[in-house]
Amino acid sequence: MQYVRIFCFFFLVVLVRLHAQSPTEANYDESKVPPYTLPDVLKTTRNLDVRTKKTWERVRRPEIVKLFEENVYGQLPKTFDRLTYSIKRNVSAMAGKATLKEVLIEVVRNQKVVQINLVLFIPAKRKGPASVFLLINNRGKENTDPTRAHKSDFWPAEMVIDSGYAIAAFHVSDLAPDDTVSYVNGALQLYPEQLIASNGMRAIGAWAWGASRVLDYFEKDSAINARKVAIVGHSRGGKAALWAAAEDQRFAMCFSNCSGNTGAALSRRRFGETISRINTVFPHWFAKNYKRFNNNEDALPVDQHMLLAAIAPRPLYVTNASKDLWADPSGTFLSLKNASRVYALYGFKSNLPANPPAINQPIINSPLGYHIREGEHNLTAYDWINFIKFANLHYKK
Ligand code: GCU
Repeated sequence: MQYVRIFCFFFLVVLVRLHAQSPTEANYDESKVPPYTLPDVLKTTRNLDVRTKKTWERVRRPEIVKLFEENVYGQLPKTFDRLTYSIKRNVSAMAGKATLKEVLIEVVRNQKVVQINLVLFIPAKRKGPASVFLLINNRGKENTDPTRAHKSDFWPAEMVIDSGYAIAAFHVSDLAPDDTVSYVNGALQLYPEQLIASNGMRAIGAWAWGASRVLDYFEKDSAINARKVAIVGHSRGGKAALWAAAEDQRFAMCFSNCSGNTGAALSRRRFGETISRINTVFPHWFAKNYKRFNNNEDALPVDQHMLLAAIAPRPLYVTNASKDLWADPSGTFLSLKNASRVYALYGFKSNLPANPPAINQPIINSPLGYHIREGEHNLTAYDWINFIKFANLHYKK
């Protein structure tokens, strides 16, 4: 009996240890962040130092975008046969303060069509074409209700209109339903070759692709200033917003809220969510090649600071929430800090402090803006208030 008890005890100890060491177990202990070296954002793959914005733009930036295509997000197809749109509704809204446009954007390639339903409010009082915040909506469609029967801080349309900006949104399900099986029923129907390629686009790429098609539409809408389109996303939508802004330099600004792993946070820190965990739970988000880096972060030729740097010199605002350790706030701030070397090539000094700022102390007066908000993982009115302040300041500059 005694032996059986001892055996059971050791068996349990082994089980607990195995579990603790399982690669999908998240680390929340700063002292357990392993030593790591980030790839140098300002050294080309041929080991040349990048000292000017010219070399950055001609050599290093394209190289970095390519590395992300190859290893992380997959290719972002740039060609299609045609893009058409029809205005489904064009009415006065918000007691005359805005015009509501519901636009159906259709993109065709090889006789296949993808339909993007855009909701757009444009301020009635404006001087010239309006600057716009475009949200990649990864939550319920009710969050961007055109009728305004349902209002949500996830997309506070009234607040944005009162601030003089247009606000728009499309839902991710139009481009790739957020599901391991049905994600193919959207943009990927236009590009079936992507599904075979190991560096092929998946859902997050499809959402970013959709954001660019909406921007194509904005270029045709005279009420919108297509040179002042800010792309906004929360969490998985925040990952897609960064990818869209890195790939498509027409986006004037980017707001990435609580985007975490494979968003703004550094992967090599292995704090909170890891590459292995994200690829396991969301196998439909990234290119097949990305799975090669499960539990193998140091082999990646990039880390996420390089994605942020690819957005330079355009203003970029990144956020965290104090209770959202899964998204690694410290690793997000470090990622921004490391990206600032590229903004410096343009003579833009980041006003980011040496260490993360206190909770609810936004850093607005910096081309790389940041705040860590009190509370949970979410996109809230507080976040939007600071997005608007950031846009006000940086569009004026
Ligand atoms: C999960 C996922 C995150 C993602 C988040 C969200 O938590 O692990 O990577 O950012 O969902 O989209 O809300």
